[in-house]
Amino acid sequence: MRLSGATAARVIAGTWLMACLAAMATATFAQTTGRQNPPLTIQSVAGRDIFEFYCAPCHGRDGRGAGPVVPALKTAPPDLTLIARRHGGAFPRAWVEAFVTHDGAATTPAHGSEDMPVWGPVFRGLDPSDTRAAIRIANVVKYVEALQIK
Ligand code: HEC
Repeated sequence: MRLSGATAARVIAGTWLMACLAAMATATFAQTTGRQNPPLTIQSVAGRDIFEFYCAPCHGRDGRGAGPVVPALKTAPPDLTLIARRHGGAFPRAWVEAFVTHDGAATTPAHGSEDMPVWGPVFRGLDPSDTRAAIRIANVVKYVEALQIK
């Protein structure tokens, strides 16, 4: 059986969400039992760590769009190092944050596909404290800003 691009992308997105749910369960398990499990999630709130763990599989470690799962996506991830250039030279921080979290009313014209997972709720799910989730999101967005080619 051959999966269509769209189906494969949904499978990938589903797999990612399942991995995130498993990570949440693992985190809770570790908290309640004190037992160490292999890391399915990261505790670090550093932008680089978050990017490499949650974003690089699609966007590539350098953000240029050549992550290992790209062949299975129906939309190729755009080059994240050129966001500022594509926006007249200024990094649109609020827009990027809205794109990444896609929370509630925040919609983005470019977010036409289902390939880009919605991370806001995932980060909140991993961290009971919303403050920590907000820090993680802000940090990963700052990291993307630091990747910009002038
Ligand atoms: C499953 C693959 C995948 C993962 C994981 C992923 N992205 Fe994406 N991302 C995409 C795709 C595909 C697009 C293009 C989607 C579209 O245009 O609708 C995209 C678009 C974007 C854009 C918009 C860029 C532009 O100029 O249009 C930003 C910003 C972005 N991603 C940041 C992130 C960050 C930060 C993370 C990690 C928290 C992340 N992405 C994780 C696949 C992914």
